[in-house]
Amino acid sequence: MTAVSAKLWKSGALRAAVLGLVAALVWAMWGADAWHERAVTRVPTGITAITPQAQLQEGAYLARIGNCAVCHTAQGGEPYAGGREIDTPFGAVPSSNLTPDPAHGIGQWSADDFWRALHFGKRRDGQRLSPAFPYTSYTHVSRADSDALFAYLQSLPPSRRANMPSKLVWPFNTQAALAVWRALYFWPASDAPHDSMASLPLETQRGAYLVQGLGHCAECHGARGPLGGLRGGQEFAGAVLPGTPWYAPSLVNTAEAGAVSVEHTMRLLQTGTTGLQSANGQAVAQGPMAEVVLNGSQYLRDDDARAMALYLQTLVPAAPTQERASAQAQAPSKTDPKAAKLYEDHCASCHGKEGQGQPGAYPALAGNRAVLMARPNNAVLSVQFGGFAPATAGNPQPYGMPPFLLTLNDAEVAAVLSHVRSSWGNHAAGVTELEVQQIRRLQAAH
Ligand code: HEC
Ligand code: HEC
Ligand code: HEC
Repeated sequence: MTAVSAKLWKSGALRAAVLGLVAALVWAMWGADAWHERAVTRVPTGITAITPQAQLQEGAYLARIGNCAVCHTAQGGEPYAGGREIDTPFGAVPSSNLTPDPAHGIGQWSADDFWRALHFGKRRDGQRLSPAFPYTSYTHVSRADSDALFAYLQSLPPSRRANMPSKLVWPFNTQAALAVWRALYFWPASDAPHDSMASLPLETQRGAYLVQGLGHCAECHGARGPLGGLRGGQEFAGAVLPGTPWYAPSLVNTAEAGAVSVEHTMRLLQTGTTGLQSANGQAVAQGPMAEVVLNGSQYLRDDDARAMALYLQTLVPAAPTQERASAQAQAPSKTDPKAAKLYEDHCASCHGKEGQGQPGAYPALAGNRAVLMARPNNAVLSVQFGGFAPATAGNPQPYGMPPFLLTLNDAEVAAVLSHVRSSWGNHAAGVTELEVQQIRRLQAAH
């Protein structure tokens, strides 16, 4: 101990700090959890009002729109048998086997155990689960829906795939670290609707329930603190996904992905594109959002999709498009002839000479908010790696964007995107070669 800290220790300040820390840890380990479990209203088990068959069907629907299979299926693996690694800033966490195998899956679980996992983030043996399993959102799922999900999972063919240990680095792989994390960031949902919700129409409340719970939109679209927890009040503020260069845009800001109309949002969630005739230009679900649509939201029933769209509409402040309109009215900045030539040679055939796109096939790049966002990440990824909107019933044969990774170097991608972002009334900052390089490396390593 140095002289200074020895002095501090004697004076009591350091002793108090250490004691405080130990007390906080003890509280986090035992107190907070017990408090949590007590604070939440005891919810009666099971649904009695619907037949087992209807419950099973509802469970299958909920599992789909909750995207459970996406995380719980390894590439080429049996559905719901687990083994896909979920990236976190502290190491990867493999998902678990949710099939009813008694040894490796959840065959010996009861509906209560399952509810505990979804609602409290605890394993059957009481161990705390990693928030790579987004129980921070699923805690909002009702007991009836949890039971339906459980009934559905128990009806699947069992898989003998054994669960893998997590690759979290020390100390994040300890129960103590999880306890601290939970004390900071996790509060199980109460059964009663939040006060701010109670005044909303029932349909909007249903939308809030789906967006905040099974839809787990905040898990990607929410801003996170240094320890990876969602920041309160910024659940939809937009964020770069951990370990990837993808940026999930803000659902609050209409200059990014804030809802512009109920129809627009419904179409995006159910078909993967808002359609080319949309007054606000075409939006296309890409990358991780394309997975959300492909495996989940395209199966939303119309009433649920509408409910979600209605709720998302409440997140954006009134009087939206003003900002964008004025940004577009700015005079065009001077064009770089080399970049204009790159655009002409590689892009104009699809996106049009004036970035106007082609109705029914290619999105306009002029006035396209996915292109104009402050963070150019997703536009860079589109150009480098190409992409498709997800193929859905409502958009069965999406047009593709070819990858330019082998055709254009980083400097050229930066130049052509800077051109796109500042032409035809577009007025967003340029993209640098360094940004392009960083995004490419991160995506390639992923
Ligand atoms: C973003 C990825 C992701 C999604 C989406 C997801 N899970 Fe998980 N889940 C995980 C991971 C990772 C674990 C393992 C956590 C751990 O080991 O600490 C897990 C664990 C679980 C467990 C605990 C199993 C056990 O053996 O301890 C249950 C139950 C579960 N998930 C159910 C679901 C259900 C139901 C859904 C859909 C509503 C779902 N999960 C969606 C990633 C996900
Ligand atoms: C796995 C992470 C993830 C989840 C979960 C997720 N999103 Fe996204 N979302 C993204 C990413 C990344 C983008 C940017 C790519 C794009 O534009 O499609 C995006 C884009 C969007 C857009 C803008 C699309 C456009 O092109 O204008 C909307 C709207 C949206 N998400 C809504 C939602 C809603 C509603 C939910 C919950 C039902 C949700 N997202 C869940 C990652 C996610
Ligand atoms: C063969 C036709 C084709 C060519 C050539 C092409 N694109 Fe695309 N582009 C598409 C399609 C189709 C989409 C929508 C699907 C998607 O987003 O993956 C798209 C999407 C995009 C997006 C994302 C827009 C959004 O709304 O999310 C950007 C940015 C983009 N292209 C830029 C370019 C640039 C820059 C070039 C030239 C270097 C180019 N494209 C060349 C067909 C093309």
